[in-house]
Amino acid sequence: MKKKLTTVMFRGTRAQEEQLDAVIAELRDTQGAMMPIMQKAQDIYGYLPIEVQKMIAVKMGVPLEEVYGIASFYSQFRLNPTGEVSIAVCLGTACYVKGSGDITDRIKIKLGIEPGSTSPDGKFSLECTRCIGACGLAPVLTINNDVYGRLSTGDVDGILAKYM
Ligand code: FES
Repeated sequence: MKKKLTTVMFRGTRAQEEQLDAVIAELRDTQGAMMPIMQKAQDIYGYLPIEVQKMIAVKMGVPLEEVYGIASFYSQFRLNPTGEVSIAVCLGTACYVKGSGDITDRIKIKLGIEPGSTSPDGKFSLECTRCIGACGLAPVLTINNDVYGRLSTGDVDGILAKYM
């Protein structure tokens, strides 16, 4: 899955970089450190822009290509900031078997964005999540703080229309 990059100005602070330094100092010598470091970096910055990927590469002494390869491959990593309307589709097992993949596809078509991406105007972002603990409502998606359950693909357009 290819992730699209939007051009949003990066605004990292010195305090965020210090937090990142502390995470790297704590984890760098553990096996398989890159994934947890990148996850924590995403927690600190809210996403993993190329500027943060470069910092991680330099501080870890690895090529940027390695960091970018991980960031672009795994759907849990966001290369763009969350949109004003943040959509998350659960792809946990209960939701997946009840069609959350088709729901994701419908959202992709409707908004023209891939999971892990934000629309060029910054309005919508889409991500796929693991189980959010609402399996009884499967398939489930959340939009900002709203939860929508027992969905079918036919529900998607009407739900999105509320946020247009
Ligand atoms: S699998 Fe989707 S809420 Fe649990």
